[in-house]
Amino acid sequence: MNEIAPVTQSDSDAAPKMPTLPDAQTVTEVKHWTDRLFSFRMTRPTTMRFRSGEFVMIGLMGDPDPKTGKVKPLLRAYSIASPSWDEELEFYSIKVPDGPLTSKLQHIKVGDEIILRPKPVGTLVHDALIPGKRIWFFATGTGFAPFASLLREPQTYEDYDEVIITHTCRTAGELTYGRELIEALEHDELLNEVIGDGFWKKIKYYPTTTREQSAKMGRITDLINSGEAYKELGVEPLCPQNDRAMICGNLAFNLELKAMLEAAGLEEGANSKPAQYVVEKAFLD
Ligand SMILES: Cc1cc2nc3c(=O)[nH]c(=O)nc-3n(C[C@H](O)[C@H](O)[C@H](O)COP(=O)(O)OP(=O)(O)OC[C@H]3O[C@@H](n4cnc5c(N)ncnc54)[C@H](O)[C@@H]3O)c2cc1C
Ligand SMILES: NC(=O)c1ccc[n+]([C@@H]2O[C@H](COP(=O)([O-])OP(=O)(O)OC[C@H]3O[C@@H](n4cnc5c(N)ncnc54)[C@H](OP(=O)(O)O)[C@@H]3O)[C@@H](O)[C@H]2O)c1
Repeated sequence: MNEIAPVTQSDSDAAPKMPTLPDAQTVTEVKHWTDRLFSFRMTRPTTMRFRSGEFVMIGLMGDPDPKTGKVKPLLRAYSIASPSWDEELEFYSIKVPDGPLTSKLQHIKVGDEIILRPKPVGTLVHDALIPGKRIWFFATGTGFAPFASLLREPQTYEDYDEVIITHTCRTAGELTYGRELIEALEHDELLNEVIGDGFWKKIKYYPTTTREQSAKMGRITDLINSGEAYKELGVEPLCPQNDRAMICGNLAFNLELKAMLEAAGLEEGANSKPAQYVVEKAFLD
Protein backbone atom coordinates (compact mmCIF):
# COMPACT_ATOMS: atom_id res chain seq x y z
CA MET A 1 0.00 0.00 0.00
CA ASN A 2 1.55 3.29 -1.03
CA GLU A 3 1.07 6.42 0.97
CA ILE A 4 0.15 9.35 -1.22
CA ALA A 5 0.59 12.98 -0.30
CA PRO A 6 -2.78 14.08 1.14
CA VAL A 7 -4.71 15.91 -1.56
CA THR A 8 -7.02 18.51 -0.07
CA GLN A 9 -9.84 20.31 -1.74
CA SER A 10 -11.30 23.12 0.33
CA ASP A 11 -14.41 25.25 0.60
CA SER A 12 -13.13 28.14 -1.46
CA ASP A 13 -12.71 25.96 -4.59
CA ALA A 14 -16.43 25.42 -5.15
CA ALA A 15 -19.52 27.54 -5.69
CA PRO A 16 -22.38 26.92 -3.19
CA LYS A 17 -25.20 24.68 -4.47
CA MET A 18 -28.77 24.25 -3.23
CA PRO A 19 -29.32 20.84 -1.58
CA THR A 20 -31.45 18.45 -3.64
CA LEU A 21 -31.17 15.14 -1.75
CA PRO A 22 -33.26 14.24 1.34
CA ASP A 23 -31.43 15.13 4.60
CA ALA A 24 -28.61 16.45 2.42
CA GLN A 25 -25.46 18.03 3.83
CA THR A 26 -22.75 19.69 1.76
CA VAL A 27 -19.16 18.44 1.56
CA THR A 28 -16.67 21.14 2.65
CA GLU A 29 -13.33 19.28 2.47
CA VAL A 30 -11.94 16.01 1.10
CA LYS A 31 -8.47 14.53 1.85
CA HIS A 32 -7.11 11.34 0.32
CA TRP A 33 -4.60 9.66 2.63
CA THR A 34 -3.78 6.46 0.70
CA ASP A 35 -5.34 4.68 -2.26
CA ARG A 36 -7.68 2.94 0.28
CA LEU A 37 -8.38 5.72 2.80
CA PHE A 38 -9.84 9.22 2.72
CA SER A 39 -11.48 11.68 5.10
CA PHE A 40 -14.07 14.34 4.43
CA ARG A 41 -15.90 17.09 6.24
CA MET A 42 -19.41 18.34 5.70
CA THR A 43 -21.94 20.78 7.06
CA ARG A 44 -23.74 19.81 10.29
CA PRO A 45 -27.46 20.41 10.80
CA THR A 46 -27.80 23.09 13.48
CA THR A 47 -30.29 20.91 15.36
CA MET A 48 -28.09 17.79 15.40
CA ARG A 49 -26.65 16.83 18.80
CA PHE A 50 -24.37 13.84 19.41
CA ARG A 51 -21.92 12.47 21.96
CA SER A 52 -18.28 12.19 20.88
CA GLY A 53 -17.67 8.56 19.76
CA GLU A 54 -21.14 7.92 18.28
CA PHE A 55 -21.99 6.84 14.72
CA VAL A 56 -24.65 7.85 12.18
CA MET A 57 -25.96 6.58 8.85
CA ILE A 58 -24.67 8.46 5.82
CA GLY A 59 -24.77 7.79 2.08
CA LEU A 60 -25.63 8.69 -1.46
CA MET A 61 -28.50 7.90 -3.80
CA GLY A 62 -28.06 4.40 -5.25
CA ASP A 63 -28.27 3.42 -8.92
CA PRO A 64 -31.74 3.30 -10.51
CA ASP A 65 -33.54 -0.05 -10.11
CA PRO A 66 -33.21 -1.73 -13.55
CA LYS A 67 -36.93 -2.69 -13.53
CA THR A 68 -38.65 0.32 -11.97
CA GLY A 69 -36.08 3.06 -12.56
CA LYS A 70 -36.58 4.15 -8.93
CA VAL A 71 -33.61 5.31 -6.90
CA LYS A 72 -33.22 4.69 -3.17
CA PRO A 73 -30.68 6.07 -0.67
CA LEU A 74 -27.67 3.80 -0.14
CA LEU A 75 -26.74 4.26 3.52
CA ARG A 76 -23.96 2.86 5.72
CA ALA A 77 -22.98 3.28 9.38
CA TYR A 78 -20.11 5.75 9.92
CA SER A 79 -18.43 6.85 13.13
CA ILE A 80 -18.36 10.62 13.46
CA ALA A 81 -14.65 11.45 13.57
CA SER A 82 -15.15 15.05 14.69
CA PRO A 83 -15.85 15.99 18.33
CA SER A 84 -19.31 17.00 19.55
CA TRP A 85 -18.33 20.70 19.75
CA ASP A 86 -17.25 20.97 16.10
CA GLU A 87 -19.50 23.07 13.82
CA GLU A 88 -18.96 20.58 10.98
CA LEU A 89 -18.96 16.78 10.79
CA GLU A 90 -15.85 14.79 9.83
CA PHE A 91 -15.66 11.17 8.64
CA TYR A 92 -12.74 8.82 7.96
CA SER A 93 -13.46 6.26 5.28
CA ILE A 94 -12.27 3.13 3.59
CA LYS A 95 -12.48 2.83 -0.24
CA VAL A 96 -13.74 -0.69 -1.00
CA PRO A 97 -13.14 -1.11 -4.76
CA ASP A 98 -16.46 -2.91 -5.39
CA GLY A 99 -18.24 -1.58 -2.31
CA PRO A 100 -21.76 -0.37 -3.14
CA LEU A 101 -21.29 2.91 -1.26
CA THR A 102 -17.56 3.61 -1.11
CA SER A 103 -16.90 2.89 -4.81
CA LYS A 104 -18.94 6.09 -5.33
CA LEU A 105 -18.25 7.96 -2.09
CA GLN A 106 -14.49 7.98 -2.75
CA HIS A 107 -15.13 10.36 -5.71
CA ILE A 108 -16.99 13.06 -3.74
CA LYS A 109 -15.84 16.64 -4.12
CA VAL A 110 -16.35 19.89 -2.22
CA GLY A 111 -19.89 21.15 -2.88
CA ASP A 112 -21.34 17.65 -3.40
CA GLU A 113 -24.23 16.43 -1.26
CA ILE A 114 -24.21 13.54 1.20
CA ILE A 115 -27.29 12.10 2.84
CA LEU A 116 -27.13 12.17 6.65
CA ARG A 117 -29.67 10.54 8.92
CA PRO A 118 -29.10 12.71 12.00
CA LYS A 119 -29.83 10.03 14.64
CA PRO A 120 -26.49 9.32 16.33
CA VAL A 121 -26.07 6.13 18.40
CA GLY A 122 -23.25 3.98 19.77
CA THR A 123 -21.48 2.50 22.76
CA LEU A 124 -18.06 4.18 22.46
CA VAL A 125 -19.13 7.05 24.70
CA HIS A 126 -17.92 8.28 28.08
CA ASP A 127 -21.39 7.71 29.52
CA ALA A 128 -20.94 3.92 29.13
CA LEU A 129 -17.86 3.83 31.40
CA ILE A 130 -17.52 4.22 35.16
CA PRO A 131 -14.79 6.58 36.46
CA GLY A 132 -11.16 5.41 36.22
CA LYS A 133 -7.60 6.77 36.12
CA ARG A 134 -6.49 5.77 32.64
CA ILE A 135 -8.35 5.22 29.39
CA TRP A 136 -7.16 2.99 26.54
CA PHE A 137 -8.42 3.51 22.99
CA PHE A 138 -7.65 0.34 20.98
CA ALA A 139 -8.09 0.67 17.18
CA THR A 140 -7.29 -1.13 13.94
CA GLY A 141 -7.72 0.41 10.48
CA THR A 142 -10.67 2.82 10.18
CA GLY A 143 -11.60 1.84 13.75
CA PHE A 144 -9.55 4.94 14.61
CA ALA A 145 -12.52 7.15 13.56
CA PRO A 146 -14.48 7.26 16.86
CA PHE A 147 -11.22 7.97 18.70
CA ALA A 148 -10.50 10.87 16.33
CA SER A 149 -13.65 12.31 17.90
CA LEU A 150 -12.90 11.33 21.51
CA LEU A 151 -9.26 12.50 21.33
CA ARG A 152 -10.55 16.00 20.46
CA GLU A 153 -13.17 15.91 23.24
CA PRO A 154 -12.11 17.87 26.36
CA GLN A 155 -14.09 15.49 28.63
CA THR A 156 -11.57 12.73 27.78
CA TYR A 157 -8.83 14.70 29.54
CA GLU A 158 -11.06 15.92 32.35
CA ASP A 159 -12.15 12.35 33.20
CA TYR A 160 -8.74 10.62 32.99
CA ASP A 161 -5.15 11.25 34.16
CA GLU A 162 -3.76 9.30 31.21
CA VAL A 163 -5.02 8.59 27.67
CA ILE A 164 -3.41 5.77 25.67
CA ILE A 165 -4.26 5.34 21.98
CA THR A 166 -3.07 2.24 20.14
CA HIS A 167 -3.57 1.96 16.37
CA THR A 168 -2.60 -1.16 14.43
CA CYS A 169 -2.65 -1.09 10.62
CA ARG A 170 -1.16 -3.19 7.87
CA THR A 171 0.97 -0.40 6.42
CA ALA A 172 2.65 2.80 7.63
CA GLY A 173 0.63 5.02 5.26
CA GLU A 174 -2.56 3.82 6.96
CA LEU A 175 -1.37 5.42 10.22
CA THR A 176 -0.97 8.93 8.77
CA TYR A 177 -4.48 10.31 9.39
CA GLY A 178 -4.27 9.31 13.06
CA ARG A 179 -0.70 10.44 13.55
CA GLU A 180 -1.31 13.90 12.09
CA LEU A 181 -4.46 14.31 14.14
CA ILE A 182 -2.66 13.39 17.37
CA GLU A 183 0.32 15.64 16.59
CA ALA A 184 -2.11 18.53 16.00
CA LEU A 185 -3.61 18.07 19.48
CA GLU A 186 -0.44 19.52 20.98
CA HIS A 187 -1.24 22.87 19.35
CA ASP A 188 -4.96 22.84 20.18
CA GLU A 189 -5.58 25.73 22.57
CA LEU A 190 -8.84 24.39 23.96
CA LEU A 191 -7.36 20.99 24.82
CA ASN A 192 -4.15 22.46 26.18
CA GLU A 193 -6.15 24.48 28.67
CA VAL A 194 -7.71 21.26 29.97
CA ILE A 195 -4.55 19.15 29.78
CA GLY A 196 -2.14 21.71 31.25
CA ASP A 197 1.56 20.82 31.48
CA GLY A 198 2.97 17.46 30.45
CA PHE A 199 1.04 16.92 27.21
CA TRP A 200 2.93 13.78 26.08
CA LYS A 201 2.83 12.38 29.64
CA LYS A 202 -0.94 12.52 29.57
CA ILE A 203 -1.39 11.33 25.97
CA LYS A 204 0.48 8.20 24.92
CA TYR A 205 0.32 7.21 21.24
CA TYR A 206 1.32 3.66 20.26
CA PRO A 207 1.05 3.06 16.49
CA THR A 208 2.07 -0.33 15.06
CA THR A 209 2.14 -1.97 11.61
CA THR A 210 1.93 -5.63 10.71
CA ARG A 211 2.79 -5.94 7.01
CA GLU A 212 5.18 -3.08 6.35
CA GLN A 213 8.26 -1.91 8.22
CA SER A 214 7.65 0.92 10.69
CA ALA A 215 9.04 2.14 14.02
CA LYS A 216 6.97 -0.53 15.83
CA MET A 217 5.94 -3.79 14.23
CA GLY A 218 3.31 -6.24 15.50
CA ARG A 219 -0.31 -6.64 16.52
CA ILE A 220 -1.16 -4.71 19.69
CA THR A 221 -2.72 -7.85 21.14
CA ASP A 222 0.63 -9.70 20.88
CA LEU A 223 2.57 -6.69 22.16
CA ILE A 224 0.34 -6.50 25.23
CA ASN A 225 0.41 -10.24 25.87
CA SER A 226 4.23 -10.24 25.74
CA GLY A 227 4.39 -7.25 28.09
CA GLU A 228 6.36 -5.25 25.48
CA ALA A 229 3.66 -2.57 25.08
CA TYR A 230 3.45 -1.95 28.86
CA LYS A 231 7.22 -1.66 29.09
CA GLU A 232 7.51 0.76 26.18
CA LEU A 233 4.57 2.86 27.34
CA GLY A 234 5.87 2.85 30.91
CA VAL A 235 2.55 1.72 32.40
CA GLU A 236 1.37 -1.03 34.73
CA PRO A 237 -0.62 -3.96 33.25
CA LEU A 238 -4.37 -3.51 32.76
CA CYS A 239 -6.36 -3.67 36.01
CA PRO A 240 -10.05 -3.13 36.79
CA GLN A 241 -9.37 -0.51 39.48
CA ASN A 242 -7.49 1.94 37.25
CA ASP A 243 -8.13 1.10 33.60
CA ARG A 244 -11.03 1.82 31.28
CA ALA A 245 -11.00 0.86 27.61
CA MET A 246 -12.77 1.36 24.30
CA ILE A 247 -12.21 -1.07 21.41
CA CYS A 248 -12.94 -0.49 17.72
CA GLY A 249 -11.57 -2.74 15.00
CA ASN A 250 -12.31 -5.83 12.92
CA LEU A 251 -14.33 -8.61 14.54
CA ALA A 252 -11.39 -10.95 15.34
CA PHE A 253 -9.46 -8.07 16.93
CA ASN A 254 -12.46 -6.98 18.99
CA LEU A 255 -13.04 -10.52 20.27
CA GLU A 256 -9.39 -11.13 21.10
CA LEU A 257 -9.02 -7.86 22.97
CA LYS A 258 -12.35 -8.33 24.74
CA ALA A 259 -11.13 -11.71 26.04
CA MET A 260 -7.87 -10.11 27.20
CA LEU A 261 -9.72 -7.35 29.09
CA GLU A 262 -12.10 -9.86 30.69
CA ALA A 263 -9.11 -11.98 31.74
CA ALA A 264 -7.63 -8.86 33.35
CA GLY A 265 -10.88 -8.46 35.33
CA LEU A 266 -12.59 -5.66 33.37
CA GLU A 267 -16.35 -5.85 32.70
CA GLU A 268 -18.13 -4.76 29.53
CA GLY A 269 -20.32 -1.66 29.84
CA ALA A 270 -23.21 -0.21 27.89
CA ASN A 271 -25.20 3.03 27.81
CA SER A 272 -27.77 1.40 30.10
CA LYS A 273 -25.15 -0.17 32.41
CA PRO A 274 -21.80 1.65 32.53
CA ALA A 275 -18.79 -0.54 33.40
CA GLN A 276 -15.07 -0.77 32.60
CA TYR A 277 -14.81 -1.25 28.82
CA VAL A 278 -16.91 -0.89 25.67
CA VAL A 279 -16.56 -2.31 22.18
CA GLU A 280 -17.88 -1.58 18.67
CA LYS A 281 -17.18 -3.09 15.26
CA ALA A 282 -15.28 -0.87 12.78
CA PHE A 283 -17.18 -2.65 9.97
CA LEU A 284 -19.45 -5.66 9.47
CA ASP A 285 -17.51 -8.76 8.35
C1 LIG B 1 -20.96 0.82 13.73
C2 LIG B 1 -20.20 0.94 12.44
C3 LIG B 1 -19.40 2.06 12.22
C4 LIG B 1 -18.68 2.19 11.02
N1 LIG B 1 -17.86 3.27 10.86
C5 LIG B 1 -17.10 3.36 9.72
C6 LIG B 1 -16.17 4.45 9.54
O1 LIG B 1 -16.08 5.35 10.37
N2 LIG B 1 -15.43 4.45 8.42
C7 LIG B 1 -15.52 3.47 7.47
O2 LIG B 1 -14.80 3.53 6.47
N3 LIG B 1 -16.38 2.45 7.61
C8 LIG B 1 -17.17 2.39 8.70
N4 LIG B 1 -18.07 1.34 8.84
C9 LIG B 1 -18.27 0.44 7.68
C10 LIG B 1 -19.27 1.09 6.73
O3 LIG B 1 -20.56 0.98 7.29
C11 LIG B 1 -19.29 0.42 5.32
O4 LIG B 1 -19.23 -0.96 5.41
C12 LIG B 1 -18.15 0.92 4.45
O5 LIG B 1 -18.32 2.30 4.20
C13 LIG B 1 -18.10 0.20 3.08
O6 LIG B 1 -19.33 0.38 2.44
P1 LIG B 1 -19.56 -0.25 1.01
O7 LIG B 1 -21.03 -0.14 0.70
O8 LIG B 1 -18.63 0.35 0.02
O9 LIG B 1 -19.17 -1.78 1.18
P2 LIG B 1 -19.84 -2.88 2.13
O10 LIG B 1 -20.71 -3.76 1.28
O11 LIG B 1 -20.48 -2.21 3.30
O12 LIG B 1 -18.57 -3.67 2.61
C14 LIG B 1 -17.88 -4.56 1.74
C15 LIG B 1 -16.74 -5.24 2.50
O13 LIG B 1 -15.68 -4.29 2.68
C16 LIG B 1 -15.01 -4.50 3.91
N5 LIG B 1 -15.10 -3.25 4.69
C17 LIG B 1 -16.22 -2.48 4.89
N6 LIG B 1 -15.92 -1.41 5.66
C18 LIG B 1 -14.60 -1.52 5.97
C19 LIG B 1 -13.71 -0.73 6.74
N7 LIG B 1 -14.12 0.40 7.35
N8 LIG B 1 -12.43 -1.12 6.85
C20 LIG B 1 -11.99 -2.24 6.23
N9 LIG B 1 -12.79 -3.05 5.49
C21 LIG B 1 -14.08 -2.69 5.35
C22 LIG B 1 -15.74 -5.66 4.62
O14 LIG B 1 -15.01 -6.85 4.36
C23 LIG B 1 -17.08 -5.70 3.93
O15 LIG B 1 -17.65 -6.98 3.92
C24 LIG B 1 -18.81 1.19 10.01
C25 LIG B 1 -19.63 0.08 10.23
C26 LIG B 1 -20.31 -0.06 11.43
C27 LIG B 1 -21.16 -1.28 11.62
N1 LIG C 1 -4.82 -2.87 4.26
C1 LIG C 1 -4.54 -3.17 2.97
O1 LIG C 1 -3.47 -2.84 2.46
C2 LIG C 1 -5.54 -3.91 2.11
C3 LIG C 1 -5.34 -3.95 0.74
C4 LIG C 1 -6.32 -4.56 -0.06
C5 LIG C 1 -7.43 -5.14 0.50
N2 LIG C 1 -7.61 -5.11 1.83
C6 LIG C 1 -8.83 -5.73 2.39
O2 LIG C 1 -9.57 -4.81 3.18
C7 LIG C 1 -10.17 -5.49 4.30
C8 LIG C 1 -9.80 -4.78 5.58
O3 LIG C 1 -8.41 -4.56 5.65
P1 LIG C 1 -7.76 -3.60 6.75
O4 LIG C 1 -6.29 -3.67 6.58
O5 LIG C 1 -8.41 -2.28 6.72
O6 LIG C 1 -8.23 -4.26 8.10
P2 LIG C 1 -7.81 -5.61 8.83
O7 LIG C 1 -7.59 -6.74 7.90
O8 LIG C 1 -8.82 -5.74 9.88
O9 LIG C 1 -6.36 -5.28 9.49
C9 LIG C 1 -6.06 -4.10 10.20
C10 LIG C 1 -4.99 -4.40 11.22
O10 LIG C 1 -5.54 -5.20 12.26
C11 LIG C 1 -4.67 -6.29 12.52
N3 LIG C 1 -5.44 -7.41 13.06
C12 LIG C 1 -6.28 -8.21 12.39
N4 LIG C 1 -6.82 -9.12 13.22
C13 LIG C 1 -6.27 -8.90 14.44
C14 LIG C 1 -6.42 -9.51 15.70
N5 LIG C 1 -7.22 -10.56 15.91
N6 LIG C 1 -5.72 -9.01 16.73
C15 LIG C 1 -4.90 -7.97 16.56
N7 LIG C 1 -4.72 -7.34 15.39
C16 LIG C 1 -5.40 -7.80 14.34
C17 LIG C 1 -4.06 -6.60 11.18
O11 LIG C 1 -2.89 -7.37 11.38
P3 LIG C 1 -2.45 -8.54 10.35
O12 LIG C 1 -1.81 -7.85 9.17
O13 LIG C 1 -1.49 -9.34 11.17
O14 LIG C 1 -3.69 -9.30 9.96
C18 LIG C 1 -3.83 -5.20 10.62
O15 LIG C 1 -2.61 -4.67 11.09
C19 LIG C 1 -9.66 -6.92 4.27
O16 LIG C 1 -10.70 -7.74 3.77
C20 LIG C 1 -8.49 -6.88 3.30
O17 LIG C 1 -8.36 -8.11 2.60
C21 LIG C 1 -6.69 -4.49 2.66
